[in-house]
Amino acid sequence: MTELGFDNKVAVITGAGNGLGRAHALELARRGARVVVNDLGGAADGSGGSAGPAQQVVDEIVALGGEAVANTDSVATPEGGQAIIATALDAFGRVDIVINNAGILRDKSFHNMTVDQINAVIDVHLRGAFYVTHAAWGHLREQGYGRIVNTSSNSGILGNFGQANYGAAKMGLIGLTNVLALEGAKHNIKVNAIAPVAFTRLTAELMPGFEEKLSPEKVTPVVVYLVSEECEVTGEIYSVGAGTVSRYFIGLTPGFATADLTAEAVRDNLATIRDETGYVVLRNNGQELKKIFTSLP
Ligand code: NAI
Repeated sequence: MTELGFDNKVAVITGAGNGLGRAHALELARRGARVVVNDLGGAADGSGGSAGPAQQVVDEIVALGGEAVANTDSVATPEGGQAIIATALDAFGRVDIVINNAGILRDKSFHNMTVDQINAVIDVHLRGAFYVTHAAWGHLREQGYGRIVNTSSNSGILGNFGQANYGAAKMGLIGLTNVLALEGAKHNIKVNAIAPVAFTRLTAELMPGFEEKLSPEKVTPVVVYLVSEECEVTGEIYSVGAGTVSRYFIGLTPGFATADLTAEAVRDNLATIRDETGYVVLRNNGQELKKIFTSLP
């Protein structure tokens, strides 16, 4: 069995000073990638900042014989996104892999959520992925190669009480993943998302006692595969944690169809409309249009 290798590849990993990003950075570096370890070094709610975490991970990588540089810009501004990618180009002359992982939490029930709490979370998770990926995109297109992983969450895919800001940002990343997978296809740029479950400082209180079973290192293998040259998939979402990996997808029920739909027909046929038997998983909106027209009597 050959190992997935990353010689001559440059990986940018945001929020890599702690938790999941740190685990991805160490493993990609171990496999030969040159790594930009980006981290603002703030608290779990995004406040503050310090060069410590990014530099510490760089030091760990170098001590293990790998190559890495630290970057402490925030992903949450266009300038930060540009500076993060510029660090890769300045240090290593290229960028092949972007792992959008930086994240913060500002949980509150929607009723009590402030505009600042909405914006801060959407800025880091969703806009941050836009800014960093946008700065890299032209380089990936030009070289005809790229691998991107966006870090989503079951809090968006399934919903989670008190996380309207976070859930919406994380589901926004699925939309970004879907569109970039289509736009990147002809340039050999593959774009996928993960919905991880891991014990980190963001989740420690929710999962007491699961530090080892849910270690971040158990998420990393899926990320390593998705950013490898051998990755065969794009536009997909993988649930991963504790050694399990599965694919999430959005399904469409066969539904109900009539040429003259009324509100009353929707009411009277709700069970048929919602029935999951025989659902399909579509890859693009052309397939949905076809399904609509072939469903009609
Ligand atoms: P973590 O708090 O250990 O790591 C996140 C890192 O992002 C921190 O080091 C932080 O300093 C950095 N960061 C925050 N804002 C930044 C900014 N503006 N610019 C650059 N860096 C910034 O948390 P964890 O759990 O490792 O989270 C990684 C990603 O995984 C996040 O996007 C999180 O939402 C996501 N996630 C984690 C889950 C889990 O079970 N741990 C579940 C679902 C998603």
